[in-house]
Amino acid sequence: MQSPTILGNNSTDHLDLVREIEAGLLAESPSISPKFLYDPLGSHLFTAITLLPEYYPTNTEKDIFSRYENQIIDAIGVGGTLIDLGAGNCQKAESFFNSLKPSNYLAIDFSIEYLKDAVTKLAGKYPHIEMQCMGMDFSKQILIPESISDTKRMFFYPGSSIGNFLTSEALHLLRQIKNQAKGGGLLFGVDLMKEDAVLKLAYDDPLKITAAFNLNILNSVNSTLGSNFNIDQFDHKVIINHTENRVELFLEVLEKVTITWPGNSRVLNKGDLIHTENSHKYTVKSISELLKNAGFGKIQIWTDPKDYFAVVHAQ
Ligand code: AVI
Repeated sequence: MQSPTILGNNSTDHLDLVREIEAGLLAESPSISPKFLYDPLGSHLFTAITLLPEYYPTNTEKDIFSRYENQIIDAIGVGGTLIDLGAGNCQKAESFFNSLKPSNYLAIDFSIEYLKDAVTKLAGKYPHIEMQCMGMDFSKQILIPESISDTKRMFFYPGSSIGNFLTSEALHLLRQIKNQAKGGGLLFGVDLMKEDAVLKLAYDDPLKITAAFNLNILNSVNSTLGSNFNIDQFDHKVIINHTENRVELFLEVLEKVTITWPGNSRVLNKGDLIHTENSHKYTVKSISELLKNAGFGKIQIWTDPKDYFAVVHAQ
């Protein structure tokens, strides 16, 4: 079987992760980076979220991809290198292989372990596409190795994860993509601002899968930090912040607790909130402005009939 080239693992090392969690927990307003939501159980819970009828982004994006497939392929053009940011199980990128006909596929994700298996399976299925994979915390820096062909790099970032960055961080990420696209572009999904009721249901679903996803961050932190969080002492809380145009996820403390971990501790009082995620919602105008600020000149945007979600190609 054809196997992919593993281009190393630039993921953050364990000590840096520990320091990052510690700094968040000791801050005046405590927080945990959303990347800790995606431990093995968290990744499965997120997949379950994408199957919920209330979580509209996944199906809406899929619908836009199929409704406007020809226009999207025309905008991108065939061939070149497809660079999949946050590739996961690589399924979304795979659905474009036959139409986009990339000669190379580079899958990037936070953890190389999960990715290796997914890309190995793909390499067997598409032997004519050269495949590589890399572990990289691209929320900090995107560094595409020199060995990756620099003719027509096509970045692919579906699923509206751009919304999980602060606007300043999203701008930094987009600038790096623009600088490394080498004449290619970026195809990505972005969630649009909409009524509170729709957002509330999408982030606080009746089956409580999103609550489990959010609470599981505490188990994920316990494994990395060696802390003693007990999920029974916390509750999932969603706030819609209209000033910042985003959905905010928190864990609310139900009773006074002392969280301890090797070398430190933090007392949390009833009602305190630990911030775990921002999910920014854009408008067609605000995402266009952000892209222009990042140096992109040609921007094409496709939306669904309800204007819930947008698929964007920028060059
Ligand atoms: C991964 N990201 C785009 C999701 C979102 O909608 O912001 C994460 C998520 N959080 C709760 N539900 C889904």
